[in-house]
Amino acid sequence: MCGIMGYVGPRPASPIILQGLRRLEYRGYDSAGVAVANQGAIEVRKAAGKLDRLTALLEETSPEGQLGIGHTRWATHGAPTDFNAHPHSDPSESFAIVHNGIIENYFELREELLRSGASFSSETDTEVLVHLIAAEYDGDLAEAVRRAVARASGAYALVAMTAHEPDTLVAVRMISPMVIGFGDGETFVASGIPALLDHTRRVIVMEDGEMVTITPQGIRMEKLDGTPIEREQTEIDWDVEQAEKGGYPHFMLKEIFEQPRVVADSLLGRLSGTDVTLEDVGWDTGFEESLEKIWITACGTAFHAGLAGKEVFEGLLRIPTEAVYAHELRYRDPIVAPNSMTLAISQSGETADTLAGARLLQERGSRLVAITNVVGSALTHYSDDVVYTRAGLEISVASTKAYTAMLIAQYLLALKLGRSRGLLDDGAAREVATALEALPEQVESLLKREEGIDEMSRFLAGQLADKDDIYFIGRGLDYAVATEGSLKLKEISYLHSEAMPAGELKHGTLALVTEGTPVIVVNTQQHVYDKTVSALQEVKARGASVIAVAYDDDTEIEHYTDHVLRIPRTMDLLSPVLSIVPLQLLAYHVADARGLEIDQPRNLAKSVTVE
Ligand code: AGP
Repeated sequence: MCGIMGYVGPRPASPIILQGLRRLEYRGYDSAGVAVANQGAIEVRKAAGKLDRLTALLEETSPEGQLGIGHTRWATHGAPTDFNAHPHSDPSESFAIVHNGIIENYFELREELLRSGASFSSETDTEVLVHLIAAEYDGDLAEAVRRAVARASGAYALVAMTAHEPDTLVAVRMISPMVIGFGDGETFVASGIPALLDHTRRVIVMEDGEMVTITPQGIRMEKLDGTPIEREQTEIDWDVEQAEKGGYPHFMLKEIFEQPRVVADSLLGRLSGTDVTLEDVGWDTGFEESLEKIWITACGTAFHAGLAGKEVFEGLLRIPTEAVYAHELRYRDPIVAPNSMTLAISQSGETADTLAGARLLQERGSRLVAITNVVGSALTHYSDDVVYTRAGLEISVASTKAYTAMLIAQYLLALKLGRSRGLLDDGAAREVATALEALPEQVESLLKREEGIDEMSRFLAGQLADKDDIYFIGRGLDYAVATEGSLKLKEISYLHSEAMPAGELKHGTLALVTEGTPVIVVNTQQHVYDKTVSALQEVKARGASVIAVAYDDDTEIEHYTDHVLRIPRTMDLLSPVLSIVPLQLLAYHVADARGLEIDQPRNLAKSVTVE
């Protein structure tokens, strides 16, 4: 989820590119750079850190030239350093590219290039592409790019340039977004509409598998197989703020709707049949064999993802797993037996409590595995292994897409451990892998249903918006999801909400349930389905108004509830990835109905870096 900006025309390229990158800073900002064609050469300036560092570099010496590309990075491969910042060049420095997304087979390509004598100056997957383009070049940049990307698999967008053709850019879109903007005698290309709005409102949005050759006079658009494409320009009437939110009224809603892509990206290149490859996990089989206990530590939403993880590791692998709030753990005196692993989960990788809790377990001999969304964050510095969640920059304080990505990371870890240690037989592993692969499509279909989950949750939000107390219940994995649903609701709607295991109600909280009290139940776990129904009957008997989250084909649930939020059927183990979506939407619409500041709720920070 990086930002890309390219320009070709009569004006100096650098300032235009920089301005475009500023508009895309909301997509990522751990490093930035520009490459400009200047008198038969390509000049590159790049720097780790926010755009201000690049701006300062350009103020010292700005490359001259009327064609260039720029990038603001949110790292997925390689730490945010000057070396890893884009644009990347080939060794002859005659070609440069910027790239957004993931090259799934970059490791094989890199090995092949290394064998043929190439050397690399970064740790990124991008650099293999520019090597391939240079190797394929025989006087036509578009053809070189076409041949190079034919060898790459993954989800990405890129823009390439060469000093040999100083009036041409070539852009490719393969799932990651890319848009072309048209000025008078000048053409722009960017990964997002906000970057273009200072210059033009006439755009063409590229589609998957398309390539565009861009010159000041206009463009040639074709499919990657060479089939020409004719497409009308469209006129954008969004302002910049609307464009940054992709047309959604809030970042939170945009991020909820990004989840199909996030789930797909989290799996990309990591799951092949039942084999799991996690690029920054380096333990050996001896460690897997000896592993006796898993600790999970985190705070807030990340902790709720960990609660689900505990159910997964214990249920699937039968490895004892303990999930502890990091702020509790850090002041305890935990008994850490040998042969344990700690999963420290943190979107930001900077949460002070999580860092302290994780360090404590590590100091006592536990292997530390970070699950985080931020490459190079503090947590990664002292972790033994890292699983990056690939959710892209999350702006809304209320975490949504990062949560689903944390779930996927844990499923992958469980499958990896289960396979290599022989805890999962072929059939069981295949069932999990197949169900995982179906998830992106299922999340997408859930969000896209006509008169579906978004409308239904908006309608129900209208009924909840003036309530004082809302209860969430579930059992096992459903309870884990209930905790997250409840947190989402309270942090942005400011309504009191509480989550509890369904069986706990009758031990006290049932006294608070009276006529009209809203109770939200998640009921997807078949082995405890009837037990949860019993709890529903208890609250119904006291007049509660019950909303359920249940599978599409569950016809029984309607008998005990007032409304049902339906999700596609999956294996029960994976249901949190789907069942959380209606609860995120419900929280969003309640806060919206109450007219609240959704993306920045009062008293809360996105990342809590102090105790
Ligand atoms: C959830 O919506 C909040 N943003 C909060 O609970 C958050 O999950 C928690 O502070 C942990 O943050 P981290 O994942 O960056 O460590």
